[in-house]
Amino acid sequence: MARSSCTAKKQTPPAIWASSPGTLADLIVRCQHTELLGRLGRIGDRLGTRVFLVGGPVRDLLLGRESPDLDIAVESRARQFCNAVGLELGGRTTFHSRFLSGSVTTSVGIRLDINQTRTETYARPAVLPTVRPAGIEADLSRRDFSVNAIALSLAPSSFGYLLDPLGGRHDLQVRRIRVLHDRSFRDDPTRVFRAIRFAVRLGFDIEPGTLGLLRESVHDNVLARLTPERVLYELRLICREPLVLPIVEALIRERVLRAVWDWTPPKRFLFGLCRLVQHGAEPELLFIYWLSFLPVTERFPIRREEQEAAGWLNRFEPVREALVRSSRASTIYRLLKPIPEPALRIIAAVEPGASARRIRDYLDRLAQVRTELTGKDLKKMGVEPGPHYRRILDQLLYARLDGKVQNRDDELSLCRRLLARGKSG
Ligand code: CTP
Repeated sequence: MARSSCTAKKQTPPAIWASSPGTLADLIVRCQHTELLGRLGRIGDRLGTRVFLVGGPVRDLLLGRESPDLDIAVESRARQFCNAVGLELGGRTTFHSRFLSGSVTTSVGIRLDINQTRTETYARPAVLPTVRPAGIEADLSRRDFSVNAIALSLAPSSFGYLLDPLGGRHDLQVRRIRVLHDRSFRDDPTRVFRAIRFAVRLGFDIEPGTLGLLRESVHDNVLARLTPERVLYELRLICREPLVLPIVEALIRERVLRAVWDWTPPKRFLFGLCRLVQHGAEPELLFIYWLSFLPVTERFPIRREEQEAAGWLNRFEPVREALVRSSRASTIYRLLKPIPEPALRIIAAVEPGASARRIRDYLDRLAQVRTELTGKDLKKMGVEPGPHYRRILDQLLYARLDGKVQNRDDELSLCRRLLARGKSG
């Protein structure tokens, strides 16, 4: 089998294959939610519908990995099933008839995503599909990769049995990502991102035929048809991955981002990303950093704070220059105060040298400094309220930052001096 260029370090095969392939009782016992899954199967039974655990959680269960979510598929009566689960488990329920899908968040915070089994047809490449109810087999075959197309029955009569009509277990065994049909990436080009993300996360190869199709769809520009919303959703998911760096490297190597936005990152992009990862930066910071390099348009579905922080990363140069020239705490404070904290945390991780040290000192210490006097005190002192309150309190704060005042009395006497100067001026 040819090696894809998108692989990470190999892991040892999961124990379940080594010991007793197909010992389903073993498998279900491994799952920390066995009891809950049994209840879901019984609820389905009462409503006369088959219920399955599907997709990621089954894949992860077979690999002996933790799975964050529980994806449930029901063959009919999805809304009633959702309501019944909400009632029985006592949780928050939502259901969207248009998408035939809903969710229940149980009282102990477990989230169940519940979907009616369906077929999906794509009118054009890269558009969202038309969805029609269908049985579990059809539902499995509309999925992205064989390893995500395995179902585990939750019905009481067949609890724990696997439904694997597309060879997903075999692909898990040989550790490869394989699409289920030739049009998969054209129908849904977000799968290009997903293939690379799963391959790196799981340390799998991308099966040669699949890699050929992936490259073909990159080459034929189907990715350019994706809406910014769908692409950014994928970028956010990538930022949450522990192996974000090799995923981004693989995306660059496979020219995926160039195909989407005609965007090739400069060398310093990966360098900065690497520094952020080394500093243990949260996904949100990685995303903002990435955003600051992208050709952002008003069609990008990003929050105002994200846009602002990303914008500051691109406008930081003059601040950096002023920052390395100044050592006075109040000057550093004034330079950095207008910049949102996420942007500062990113710069502090990415920048070398003096400016990074000053930003860290600002975040850890200076930004926390407060005056003891407040507006109320000024009022008590008989100062007429107005915009000069802010000016006086700022002067007190700067004096405190620079160590010129240490306590309330110092602040009071400085305040009196400022007021007297104000009167005489
Ligand atoms: N799916 C798909 N095509 C997509 C997105 C999702 O076929 N473009 C299917 C896959 O079967 C996937 C399931 O929907 O397993 C659920 O999607 P998602 O939660 O994104 O995938 P997981 O496999 O659960 O991923 P993760 O482990 O990252 O949660």
